[in-house]
Amino acid sequence: MFDLIVIGGGPAGYIAAERAGHAGLKTLLIEKRNLGGVCLNEGCIPSKALLNAAKIYDYAMHGRDYGVFVDAVRLDHKKVIERKAKVVETLVSGIKAKMKKNKVTILQTEATILERNSEGFVVEAASEKYIGKHLLVATGSIPVVPGIPGLKKSLENGFTLTNREILDLIEVPKKLTIIGGGVIGLEMAYYYNCAGSQVTVIEMLDHIAGPTDQEISRVLKKSLEKKGIVFELEAKVTAIEEATISYEKQGKVNQLVADKVLLSIGRRASTDGVGLENIGVETNRGAIPTDEVGRTNISGVYAAGDVNGKSMLAHTAYREAEVCINHILGKKDRMRYSAIPAVIYTYPEVATVGETEESAKEKGIDIKTIKLPMVYSGRYVAENEKGEGLIKVILDQKYNRIVGVHMIGSYVSEMIYGAGLMIETELRVEDIKELVFPHPTVCEVIREALFEI
Ligand code: NAI
Repeated sequence: MFDLIVIGGGPAGYIAAERAGHAGLKTLLIEKRNLGGVCLNEGCIPSKALLNAAKIYDYAMHGRDYGVFVDAVRLDHKKVIERKAKVVETLVSGIKAKMKKNKVTILQTEATILERNSEGFVVEAASEKYIGKHLLVATGSIPVVPGIPGLKKSLENGFTLTNREILDLIEVPKKLTIIGGGVIGLEMAYYYNCAGSQVTVIEMLDHIAGPTDQEISRVLKKSLEKKGIVFELEAKVTAIEEATISYEKQGKVNQLVADKVLLSIGRRASTDGVGLENIGVETNRGAIPTDEVGRTNISGVYAAGDVNGKSMLAHTAYREAEVCINHILGKKDRMRYSAIPAVIYTYPEVATVGETEESAKEKGIDIKTIKLPMVYSGRYVAENEKGEGLIKVILDQKYNRIVGVHMIGSYVSEMIYGAGLMIETELRVEDIKELVFPHPTVCEVIREALFEI
């Protein structure tokens, strides 16, 4: 008998188990593949190992702009993949150690919810039955696979890849076609471009990077195009037949021949086979609706992470998991979504938090936008020869506080939490102006922007 059974060992599941175990709850964590889930094994972390190699390569290629001449720059993809595997291994063992430390029982097998009886929720795993007083469903998400003719077969025969397989490719494809110009598509476009592929991104919308601020999206596109990445916007893939990808653009059907295709058009909640119907947990288009403390419609059953279909980011999943555990422990807490940062780890990086101009206007917020080039930062100028970095700060004029920050440039992934903190804590502009920022840093541009009002 467990206080809590967690199904799924990704960022939501393992953090929930760790926090629950730490608080003294008898916890069972069941994961069918690898601890760490998609984020650690085939998403956020391995892609960062690849992208770091690409950035080192990129710096070396442009070393002459800074007085550093490197004669023979070569990105050894095989070595990068080997190192990535080691990084993942190290971090997975780190999670195992944390589970042990917090006395969490781990099962590596598939779990199915069978029923609810007088003692709790009955879960079957590897032909054994386990009972939990509480249940946390953290089964994550899977790639969206649209009904494009030939796509299913292409995925089966390994010509088309998802985020899982693209991170394990042994050979760099000469020509790589990416369907979807969102986060995964752009990060992989950047890496494989540095690794030597001719990359074409086919995107349905008239812009890349989805809901990102439009001006920043344009700066990113220009910068990636300079590196040789080709974008086909407002284009729809109509068929994949062997190595030929057909797509429709402005009413015309075009064809591309590639060595590999990456499918990255979004992800959807993964709930098939979990047995949610056996205890009456409601789903909405596969995702599990939850309230502000992570409760589903069934008392005692919680859901966190991508499976609730809300934010689909690992860091959101962490926090959602903590809120669920706090609720189980009777601690006051609730999930807030207004200041969740999002990052695209290309070079230059993109980082955003809070409202965009569009979303703020839709909510009727009286905004003022301050826009500054990153060259307002001395460090940025010293370190970026042809940088086109940009920061946009969105202010709520009524309350004189920041409601959104959008940046493209160096270090922005590490700066964005500060902007999130300002939004979340509702700091007034005057309060921020009184803070001392380190100099010279790129983050000074946030403060500097506020003196432009
Ligand atoms: P995404 O939602 O970021 O982007 C999908 C893109 O595909 C959109 O631009 C969409 O317009 C386009 N699209 C949709 N259907 C299409 C079609 N039939 N043809 C052409 N384009 C089409 O999804 P993505 O990149 O697959 O990422 C999945 C999830 O993983 C996201 O929720 C993302 O937040 C998360 N992720 C986060 C990362 C980060 O935080 N750095 C890194 C990678 C993934």
